[in-house]
Amino acid sequence: MCGIIGFTGYADAKKVMIDGLTALEYRGYDSAGIAFFEENGIKTLKTIGKVSVLADKVAKEVVAKTSESTCGIGHTRWATHGGVTDTNAHPHTSGKVTLIHNGIIENYRELELSLKESGRTPVSQTDTEIAALLIDSLYDGDAIKTIKKAVELLEGAYAFCIMFADQPDIIYSLRNSSPLVACHTKEGSIIASDMVALIDYSKDYFVVPEMHVVILKRDSISLTDLDGNEVSPRMLHVNWDMTAAKKGGYPHFMLKEIHEQPDSLRNTILPRIQNKLPDFTADNIPDSLFDGISRIIITACGTAMHAGLIGKVMLERLLRFPVTVEIASEFRYQDPIIDKSTLVITISQSGETADTLAALKLAKEYGASTLSIVNVKGSSIARESDYVLYTHAGPEIAVASTKAYTAQLSCLYLLAFRFAYATGKLEKEKCIEEMHELLNMIPALEETISFDKKIEEISKQLTEKEDLFFIGRGLDYALSCEGSIKLKEISYIHSEAYAAGELKHGTLSLVTEGVPVVALATQQKVYSKMISNIREVKARNAFVVLITMKGQEAEPSIYDYHITLPEVKDTYAPFLAAIVLQLLAYYTSLHRGLNVDQPRNLAKSVTVE
Ligand code: AGP
Repeated sequence: MCGIIGFTGYADAKKVMIDGLTALEYRGYDSAGIAFFEENGIKTLKTIGKVSVLADKVAKEVVAKTSESTCGIGHTRWATHGGVTDTNAHPHTSGKVTLIHNGIIENYRELELSLKESGRTPVSQTDTEIAALLIDSLYDGDAIKTIKKAVELLEGAYAFCIMFADQPDIIYSLRNSSPLVACHTKEGSIIASDMVALIDYSKDYFVVPEMHVVILKRDSISLTDLDGNEVSPRMLHVNWDMTAAKKGGYPHFMLKEIHEQPDSLRNTILPRIQNKLPDFTADNIPDSLFDGISRIIITACGTAMHAGLIGKVMLERLLRFPVTVEIASEFRYQDPIIDKSTLVITISQSGETADTLAALKLAKEYGASTLSIVNVKGSSIARESDYVLYTHAGPEIAVASTKAYTAQLSCLYLLAFRFAYATGKLEKEKCIEEMHELLNMIPALEETISFDKKIEEISKQLTEKEDLFFIGRGLDYALSCEGSIKLKEISYIHSEAYAAGELKHGTLSLVTEGVPVVALATQQKVYSKMISNIREVKARNAFVVLITMKGQEAEPSIYDYHITLPEVKDTYAPFLAAIVLQLLAYYTSLHRGLNVDQPRNLAKSVTVE
């Protein structure tokens, strides 16, 4: 999952690319580079480190030379093949071909061997350079014919931007699985991995169809199939602007996005409540989708999968048939038990996660009806699904997903209630009442965000810890899983989520003096059981952070800190408790002096397997 951008037009290409790569940096940030046309050919500047390091290098280059370029391609990398080195950074050049790539060429070893036989030897360790060598070996001056021949030999996921030295100021681009969006404006033609790099230039764009070639020229952008037949792109319009994709005065994107959750929830929920009932008319999701469904499989990765764990509890509680949650990277290699009575729900913020996309395609092969809950309009998973329920969370830039998670929850709750109502398993009045409770949760969530200073105080007790447990039962256990990944991925503290009732079956041996245990006890039905489990850990002198609903009392001897959530029906507690866990992870990472928005080894969208 890297970020790529291409521009050709009348503006300073280096500036367009650096600005674009800065916006795309959340996709990968271990090295970066640009290539651009100069009078005497294509020049490449690339370096390990973040885009800011590249920008310094480019600035020095500009000072050294006066020439301004108006056509170039840029790349910010998340290493898949080959270490983090200047040589392995993109762009890569072979003969007349200079290109950048997001994805994985799965058969690059095989191609490398055949290219070596013809004397073409890579200088880097990357699969991308093999693609450059291949395309150059095929290039006869006709770019589209060359690309078609290359595509017939390449296997894997890719989004390329390609420049040919003998075709100045033109960029060719194409994708297979990896994301690409493009537009043409008065400044010129621009293409990138994500709208955040285009939004400053245009809100009207198109998603590049797979296996089609985009030809970017300064005065035009055109789309053809692999035989060169022109195709009209399907134009889309994005309704947010760059300020939405910038920090807006917050120190980190993650904190901004945590604070955006009341709005992102209103934007996601309100359009789906009509006449006080859940309603998916505007999403083109008919009640007939639910007819004959007797099983649901939810498949996703990471935080999205954790949203599915909450969804499972809600769906089974209302629909009274099996709902299973499958990790997408596992599900995609299974021989799943699916038939036409199975609804497969995929959940993905980016809509580009390779494992989730592959799981979705498998589900379709097996005859399931498919519905995706996605945040990015027109993304691959959205386009592949029979039905799409968009979260309207706006761009989520921080690698740690927050507002997308709670927006995904709201879609799952709406889906559960509509499905139950439409199939006669929930009476109208009860359904209306639940919609009232769902909306009533938002001001309580806003109040929970105001606990941030107390939560920051607690986080300071965690910064020196190396191990931590999250425990809960039912919805609280599902939420514990999310709390654990949030903390791990940005604070690097090892943590585990545990079903509270399971502790005494082994893990309790790890709970010793001062070991932090975050205990979620919001669910009334199992509250007394949770208090017993908390006594067990406190008896081993754990450091206990207790999270309960207002009105649920606990004697001070069993906790070190007690966060009391504003009063909502406990069905909606996960939304509020999620805020606490997000802020706890945020402040712990902050006080450990780490990069909250761009944690090591990770990237925002895992578009490779
Ligand atoms: C969430 O904090 C993580 N960054 C990660 O687990 C993420 O949720 C996962 O990679 C799935 O991404 P998606 O929602 O874009 O499919």
